[in-house]
Amino acid sequence: FKIKKPYNEPIYSYLPGSKERTDLKDKIKELKSKEIEIPLIIGGKEVRTGKVNKCIVPHDKEHVLATYHMAGEKEVNMAIESALNAKREWDNMPWEHRVSIFLKAAELLSGPWRSTLNAATMLAQSKTVFQAEIDAACELIDFLRFNCYYLTQIYNDQPYSSKGVWNRVEYRPLEGFVFAVTPFNFTSIGGNLPTAPALVGNTVLWKPASNAVYSNYFFMKLLQAAGLPDGVINFMPGYGSEIGEYVLKSEYLAGIHFTGSTKVFRGMWKTVGENIDKYRMYPRIVGETGGKDFIFAHKSADIDSLVTAIVRGAFEYQGQKCSAASRAYIPESIWPDVKQKLLKEISTIKMGDVEDFSNFIGAVIDENAFNKIKSYIEYAKSSNEADVIYGGKCNNNKGYFIEPTVIVTNNSKFKTMKEEIFGPVITIYVYNDNNLEETLELCNSTSPYALTGAIFSQDRRITVKMQKALTHSAGNFYINDKPTGAVVGQQPFGGSRASGTNDKAGSMFNLLRWISPRAIKENF
Ligand code: SER
Repeated sequence: FKIKKPYNEPIYSYLPGSKERTDLKDKIKELKSKEIEIPLIIGGKEVRTGKVNKCIVPHDKEHVLATYHMAGEKEVNMAIESALNAKREWDNMPWEHRVSIFLKAAELLSGPWRSTLNAATMLAQSKTVFQAEIDAACELIDFLRFNCYYLTQIYNDQPYSSKGVWNRVEYRPLEGFVFAVTPFNFTSIGGNLPTAPALVGNTVLWKPASNAVYSNYFFMKLLQAAGLPDGVINFMPGYGSEIGEYVLKSEYLAGIHFTGSTKVFRGMWKTVGENIDKYRMYPRIVGETGGKDFIFAHKSADIDSLVTAIVRGAFEYQGQKCSAASRAYIPESIWPDVKQKLLKEISTIKMGDVEDFSNFIGAVIDENAFNKIKSYIEYAKSSNEADVIYGGKCNNNKGYFIEPTVIVTNNSKFKTMKEEIFGPVITIYVYNDNNLEETLELCNSTSPYALTGAIFSQDRRITVKMQKALTHSAGNFYINDKPTGAVVGQQPFGGSRASGTNDKAGSMFNLLRWISPRAIKENF
């Protein structure tokens, strides 16, 4: 079982005059010129239910990209049947052939399909060209290639055998199907959640987020083009609560691979608990949920890198990464300098239509997100415990635009220091330099989440102290860097506490959750 360790897919720069830029611009124009119809894909066949919804462009909300069909009870049952039927052959397929399909998918995405996935992600999820490229192209390619490599690492791990005995471990897939529920904010997570369990021999029901149906549909078509057999992954958009209700009651539910809100994930655990007597095995439940990710600076911090980390960490992709920085702790002694440089750097940010490649941020995903983020900003504006020192304007005339916003508070437990906002808003708490330990403890205990966090210090003794004090505050911990942008194969991603089960997407830890090993002893 051998595959060479892959390298990370290089990031294209899309410089003016480059071929990749022309191809991408042409693809954006092509996709915008026609409204498509998106069916469900069950057992490899297109299914139209007539119950439909629309995919729109968040920065140009009157523009409709697609009408998509939604699954109900009948389609869930069809998909379960097709997943179970497909499983017999899929599970028995030699591993090299399963792997070949996903390696081919990575090749297609690295080449001819790259502009399609990027253009679809830019239009439907309002990502800038750089944000689309590192997600829909590079990260998704990396997930596919690294998972294939990790599969061989797992299969190679075999037990010791004593004389006259051959011990071995058979890495079986789970008994049943896996339910993948994916988010809008990363096309790559949309692709990883159904393909990781499928790679090790499972078959999957995939419910994409409504706001990512468009890009995720193109990925599903890409998988078919790479030779994925019918029924291995069944693509079924629809209302999560409706689909979930039928799926979670199936006796064949063997696993859930989820990224989304803490509330929905907890609801799924409860439903699984209520139905536990029905299942043939204890379903594996893997989830990545909310975050309230922090940047914590010590007075020894390098101020320029700290400021860049705040700006990029908080505002790239409009703050809609689960890893986005949304609270910061800055010591009084450096705050005047940090503030001046921060305001200067934010004032250079260009917001607008992501089809103009010079914009740094686009629109937030939809009306609900817009209203929720706006209400947090209004709360801060009306409070006497906080000042909005930058931004705060929200405008949904053409698209869902929210200015990058900085709130400063003197209350370390202020609402926007604790709750997940999922928008381009960061709240800063300025602490007394003499209260480092107390403030570290506040950072650790203020929010229920523990996804990502970053510390800034150039004093090694302090770095050690901070890392120790924040041991359980983040599953991805950065020293002198922003808390976003984990790279597959370099920083396995995931958090604990209310942020998820910490089963690290794109790693062996994750793949092992989709495997039910059988230990075999044979006497000679
Ligand atoms: N992997 C992404 C990041 O690190 C979040 O899902 O930003």
